Amino acid sequence: MTTSNEIAIKHTHQSQLSKVDFNNLDFGKYISDHMVVANYAHSSWSQPEIVPYGDLLMSPAMLSLHYGQSIFEGMKAFKMKDGNISIFRLKKHHTRMNKSLARMCMPEIIESMFIEALRTLIELDHRWVPSNEGASLYIRPIVFASEARLGVKVSDLYKFIIMTTPVGPYFSKPYRLKVEDHYVRTAEGGTGFAKCAGNYGGAFYPTQVAKEEGFDQVLWTDHKDHQYIDEVGMMNVMFVINGKLITPSLNTAILDGVTRDSILTLAKEMNFPTEERRIKLEELEKGFKDGSITEAFGAGTAAVVAPIQSIRIHGIDYTIPLPDSNSFQLKVKKQLMDIRTGEAEDKHQWNYIVKTK
Ligand code: COI
Repeated sequence: MTTSNEIAIKHTHQSQLSKVDFNNLDFGKYISDHMVVANYAHSSWSQPEIVPYGDLLMSPAMLSLHYGQSIFEGMKAFKMKDGNISIFRLKKHHTRMNKSLARMCMPEIIESMFIEALRTLIELDHRWVPSNEGASLYIRPIVFASEARLGVKVSDLYKFIIMTTPVGPYFSKPYRLKVEDHYVRTAEGGTGFAKCAGNYGGAFYPTQVAKEEGFDQVLWTDHKDHQYIDEVGMMNVMFVINGKLITPSLNTAILDGVTRDSILTLAKEMNFPTEERRIKLEELEKGFKDGSITEAFGAGTAAVVAPIQSIRIHGIDYTIPLPDSNSFQLKVKKQLMDIRTGEAEDKHQWNYIVKTK
């Protein structure tokens, strides 16, 4: 056992790093050697510790399993050209995590504890950060109710864990969508803006139906009358219409995506006009027919920028041109990557640097 600035570290005896095929990184296949663990009891969080990644002993009566008090985040760390590591927009992810926790009646985690624990973990497992192009270390913080008690209640005990996994690009090719006009992901006033586990579990069935019909993902619409676009699969959605970047404005049903926010900021810097507003299905149908929609893509931490190949709306499949070197989505993706790796200036201090030497 060693300590780093008050964080106790129990080192693994057997690193799994040599088993990783860095040229074939299926999302989440390999979990890095160590994880952060902290426990909440008597209304306060314990000091986080770092321990070897492994199974936990848990009660089957644990409240998160029954009533769903469970949230997560998804962030990324990148190898920079100087050999250091950048964690992208750590503070924004932390703020969003606390919003998810508050929505689910779960205790917030103070920023200094989150940052110190994560920094120590990344420093320790720095060799797990891939250096091949397009690859990164995906960081998965989770918090879940751990009290064993079957009564329907807000838990008094919680566990906070951060684990990491080296990943390559999430989608290997442009994907086909179907507008979902029967099921909903979430309704306004619900938990759509939060990264709670139930949002994802509830999306599985409609997505599975869409896959059986030959699609890759669904394009979620509003819960009232399925007229307006919300999100795509597990990402925000963006269109280039008449040379303008347009994305649905945020509401309580839509995740405040960090990649969404970064792309909007970069678009403005690139003098590319942007609009955040409601997007009606009719507008998309018209735009596909008259050719004014030139790009459609998903934006999310895991996928970064994921080009959409086609969208089925009211029984018609509309095909979207594949991105080329002039496309906004590829230019902005490169700009994002250049900032993360230190090739471009980090004007907004989005990178949290972890020194490796
Ligand atoms: C992310 O992009 O971080 C997500 O939340 C998607 C994830 C469920 C793989």
